[in-house]
Amino acid sequence: NEIYLQGLGDKLPPFTTDPTRLEGLARETFDPGPFGYVVGGAGSGATVAANREAFDRWRIVPRMLTDATTRDLGATVLGQSMPAPVLLAPVGVQSIVHPDGELATARAAAALGITMVLSTASSHTIEEVAEANGDGPRWYQLYWPNDNDVTISILHRAKAAGFSALVVTLDTWTLAWRPNDLDQAYLPFIRGIGNAVPFSDPAFRALLAKSPEEDPTAAILQWIPMFTGTDKRWDQLPFLREHWDGPIVLKGIQHVDDARRASDAGMDGIVVSNHGGRQVDGAVAALDMLPEIAAAVGDRLDVLFDSGIRTGADVVKALALGAKAVLLGRPYVYGLGLGGEDGVRHVVRSVLADLDLTLGLSGNRTLADLSPDTLRRT
Ligand code: FNR
Repeated sequence: NEIYLQGLGDKLPPFTTDPTRLEGLARETFDPGPFGYVVGGAGSGATVAANREAFDRWRIVPRMLTDATTRDLGATVLGQSMPAPVLLAPVGVQSIVHPDGELATARAAAALGITMVLSTASSHTIEEVAEANGDGPRWYQLYWPNDNDVTISILHRAKAAGFSALVVTLDTWTLAWRPNDLDQAYLPFIRGIGNAVPFSDPAFRALLAKSPEEDPTAAILQWIPMFTGTDKRWDQLPFLREHWDGPIVLKGIQHVDDARRASDAGMDGIVVSNHGGRQVDGAVAALDMLPEIAAAVGDRLDVLFDSGIRTGADVVKALALGAKAVLLGRPYVYGLGLGGEDGVRHVVRSVLADLDLTLGLSGNRTLADLSPDTLRRT
């Protein structure tokens, strides 16, 4: 209503309410390096495209004369009540698109009561982002370091700073072949690391020959291989349990057997995700794996989903196919670059409003009304 009423009062939105136009606007506005980093995928971009095409193969079948005049978008994920089934995906080095970076994202998320997932590759420290997020709900995403002291230090800091759940990203134990970034010599990425873990974490600093202030390049070069977690295997998950008092979610699950292993290992949740098509070029669309995975483990842990969510209808489809909630990636990062905190808020509110209307107009009052029957595969 607020968005409609603003229009009646002759007030234009800060920028488009059409999520599919955000990428084009960002292309016109951002510097090419940061834009290439955000928009880019692995290799030829086949999986970035596949993620979107998969949504198009499913269509919503609206129902009439149901009581959906007022909707409830409320969801419960990991035992946490959420006003809507949407979280902000962990996205690294956000200061390359806006100087306020993750601080702006944290403020926007808190204003909307939406859970933010902070990346290990954040360009602001864990503590600064927590302060900006205030009483807002927040989870921490871990790139699991090869060094246990550094892992423990980061986990303690995140816990002390009020991050309630841990999201462990498994699909990025090395960076994929990403032509956009290679063509820019990864400069935007490296510049964006700024104040992140390599500079702020005492356990990591202790490993360096020279302080990051004296030799920032050496610190970053040591950080990148350490934070990829090349030595990690399934039998090491108990280490995280030992050092993290709270729910743990594995991000980057694409095979049903891996989903079962996560469940057998006592994990609280998974994110069915292919990292927005940024890791394995030619990988299957994340949405195509969701129904099978949700059917196999959905009653044992919370299944979340990301990779390709752009509109309210996309959220409806992912939930109907078995996700409890979705993570929004690139769209809010475009909002950040286009308008800082207000830009993030505008994008997220637009997606939520679109979700609310699409849910209602298709005859559903709550998320529990959604099921595979809501959709038709075309
Ligand atoms: C990401 N993603 C990501 N994931 C993660 O676990 N840690 C990270 O630091 C990052 N960094 C990152 C940077 C940028 C620029 C993008 C676009 C993505 C992946 C992210 O969490 C999510 O899986 C995808 O963005 C979802 O796909 P869509 O919504 O962007 O299509």
